[in-house]
Amino acid sequence: MKNIILGVTGSIAAYKAAYLTNALTKRGYNVDVIITKGGMEFITPLTLQTLSKNRVYTDTFELDYPREVKHISLSKKADLFLIAPATANIIGKIANGIGDDMLTSVALAMTGIPMLIAPAMNTRMWENPIVQENIKKLKKYGYQFIEPREAILADGDLGKGALAEVEEILKSIESALQVK
Ligand SMILES: Cc1cc2nc3c(=O)[nH]c(=O)nc-3n(C[C@H](O)[C@H](O)[C@H](O)COP(=O)(O)O)c2cc1C
Repeated sequence: MKNIILGVTGSIAAYKAAYLTNALTKRGYNVDVIITKGGMEFITPLTLQTLSKNRVYTDTFELDYPREVKHISLSKKADLFLIAPATANIIGKIANGIGDDMLTSVALAMTGIPMLIAPAMNTRMWENPIVQENIKKLKKYGYQFIEPREAILADGDLGKGALAEVEEILKSIESALQVK
């Protein structure tokens, strides 16, 4: 069974992570979800735990794991690392080597497996040259991006920044795992 780490961050599109988790679990993947504090403003760990049938990781400093350092053991067992939806903030933090929560700590320990990021944000954030520069940097280090769609966004603006369709994310995952 392939192990997927799914990072969920503070975007209005976080509810789609529930569909994604459900679809991946039904296709026979083991999904370990890590959710940021921002992500938990939009969707509960309980939803993701129920759909993934695994505990959901929220905190680097939990005392529950006497036999392992969890952010390292999670990164070692993973076959694929995906963040969907990914905020401008998480992209910036990973591009700059910051590890100040569970998701960014795991990202810092990731190596040798497909790493996918599906951004979701307002067009004004997407077009910010700092965000684009961070994306360019992450691509240079092997991250693959699942491009956002152009759509009417949550705030009513029409533009690029909507999370890719779940079907497209699933296709990207399967092709990344085949190449590997
Ligand atoms: C209603 C609402 C929707 C938001 N949607 C997004 C979004 O789609 N993309 C994004 O980059 N930030 C979005 N934000 C801002 C992030 O939640 C904020 O930058 C947060 O600190 C991200 O934390 P995280 O990256 O650790 O999850 C939104 C904020 C609010 C209040």
